[in-house]
Amino acid sequence: MVTAYDYPTALAVDRAGVDSILVGDSLGMVVLGLDSTLQVTMEDMVRHTAAVARARPCAFLVADMPFMSYEPSASRAVESAGLLVRAGAEAVKLEGGSEYADRVRAIVNAGIPVVGHVGLTPQRMHRLSGYRRQGKTESEASRLLEDARSLEEAGAIAVVIEYTKADVARMITERLSIPTICIGSGPYCDGQVLVLHDIIGLSTFTPPFAKRYADAMGLIVDAVSRFASEVRSGAFPGPEHYK
Ligand code: KIV
Repeated sequence: MVTAYDYPTALAVDRAGVDSILVGDSLGMVVLGLDSTLQVTMEDMVRHTAAVARARPCAFLVADMPFMSYEPSASRAVESAGLLVRAGAEAVKLEGGSEYADRVRAIVNAGIPVVGHVGLTPQRMHRLSGYRRQGKTESEASRLLEDARSLEEAGAIAVVIEYTKADVARMITERLSIPTICIGSGPYCDGQVLVLHDIIGLSTFTPPFAKRYADAMGLIVDAVSRFASEVRSGAFPGPEHYK
């Protein structure tokens, strides 16, 4: 699984053959330049999900439910999930454990597949005292397992496990029957997810668990500076561009 937020990146990641595309609320930081995911709105998610869906990807399309789109009530959760599905999502993802199991159940009962998200849940960063590895103590680890189990019981089709110790992610993966997808939680999950802009080198901050496979920022800077310098020198446009 990899994130994508617009039409061209959806075309590219789908062409690369990923199994699933996530329209993550990480778009707040990597695309909109916000400080956190807390400012991402339903309107943002619907617009970006629709743009990704227009690429008609073969990959399974999951959209994030933004902060406060499901917390207030189960009925709000169903309505928000419905808007994302109308925009083209095939499933929605929401952050949190047992405390939101009733939201997951309500959305599933409305016919919409749900992916859970436990461990580091950036929408709860104030309660978690910032971005730090989760499941460090035995009691934190059993709490995470309990959370993942309650999501499975509520009907979730998969669970993302973010930034936990690898053996905690392994223990959860072994005890669930639905697939787990790790980010920063080691190799013992059924799948892995990363933020596209971290992989291609287009984000301003890359977390330590992400691997960079390209330097897209460098490519863009190089191409645009060559364009600018050719315009200044008169080399562009050449006859082939205006004939
Ligand atoms: O918003 C996002 O990109 C995510 C992934 C990091 C799992 O939730």
